[in-house]
This record gives sequence, structure tokens and C-alpha cells, in this order.
Amino acid sequence: MKPIESPEDMYSRVQVMITKEEIADAVVKAGKEIDKLYDGRPILLVSILKGAFVFMADLCRAVSVPCEIGFMCAKSYYEGTVSTGIVKITMDLDRDVSNYHVVIVEDIIDTGRTLHDVAKMLRTRKPLSLTIVTLLDKPDRRLVELTADYSLFTIPDKFVVGYGLDCGEYYRNLPYIGEYIGE
Ligand code: IMP
Ligand code: MG
Repeated sequence: MKPIESPEDMYSRVQVMITKEEIADAVVKAGKEIDKLYDGRPILLVSILKGAFVFMADLCRAVSVPCEIGFMCAKSYYEGTVSTGIVKITMDLDRDVSNYHVVIVEDIIDTGRTLHDVAKMLRTRKPLSLTIVTLLDKPDRRLVELTADYSLFTIPDKFVVGYGLDCGEYYRNLPYIGEYIGE
């Protein structure tokens, strides 16, 4: 059982890195880029749960091309704030992607292992095209070769929370992205 803490204690461990206004501006820009890239062609936005659910909700409202949404759950196992390198697909898409231009919507690329595995698996299903959009990119931490087609923010090697990202399942509801500074 998690110890019960006061909200003051919890939020004192987070330092704002990217404000909600900066996120909103970047999401509008990303939506326009997607519109330009697909030029009226319908797309399937695929969000990787849970971390990307907030980003997905905002991004899908920032695109104007005809758009369907889908969800997958890929879990990277962490020991504290360190990735163990084990990735498991725990919930799959509910449709065949072979007729779709697929846009993967991810919260953060850290070691790159999660998206590497997810993208590899989706490519075997022969989508019309596959594009990766990530809210955050931590290139210093990369362990496998993986580059997003579009990244909204490049950040230093810090553990971040908020706007969908968690630490021990908390902080996903913060409207901004903050560095988790621990105890
Ligand atoms: P990767 O497989 O190492 O690229 O890790 C990707 C997943 O780990 C992300 O989709 C997040 O769910 C989680 N993750 C990586 N870095 C952070 C972080 O700084 N804060 C919160 N979650 C993170
Ligand atoms: Mg994620």
C-alpha cells in the first residue's frame, strides 16, 4: 500500500519544466504539421497508454484531416525511475491497420525500447505508412536506434511527470510537465 501523503508534499517534489501554455502552442503546431503531411488523407492516431492519453486528447483536436483513434497498451518495466528494458504489449489495437496511415502518438522516448518494439510489430501488419510523433524526446538516454518523425520538445536526461506522465502512477493529471526532484 502506498503511504498517504499531503498534496503539498507531493507537489513540492515537482519543478515546472514546460508550462501548459508552451505545451498548448506546440500541440497546435504539431497538428498543423500532421495536416500538411497527410494533405486530406485519413489517418489513424494510435496512442500508447497510459502515458500518452492526455497528449492524444489534445493532439486529435489539433488535426483537421479525417482521423480515427486507437489505443494500445505497452508497458516498460521500471525499477524506481530506471528502465529494466522489459517491454510488454498488454492491450492491442481493435482493428486491422493495413488500410491506414498510422501515426503513433507517444508521450516520451527515453531508451527507445518501447517504441522500437511497438513500431516493429505494427510494421509487420503493413500499414499504408507509419509515422512517430512524440511529445518529449530524451536523446541522451537512447539505447536502441530510434528517431521520431516529429518531436514537440527535446529535454535533458531528467525524470519528468505531468501531462500524462507518472511517477508511481501519480502526477499524470498535472497540466504542465515538471522535473521530478524526489525526496
Ligand atoms: P523507453 O522504452 O525507455 O523509451 O521508455 C518509454 C516509456 O517509459 C515512456 O512511454 C514512459 O511511459 C516511460 N518513461 C520514460 N521516461 C520517463 C520519464 O521521465 N517520466 C515518466 N515516464 C517515463
Ligand atoms: Mg508511454
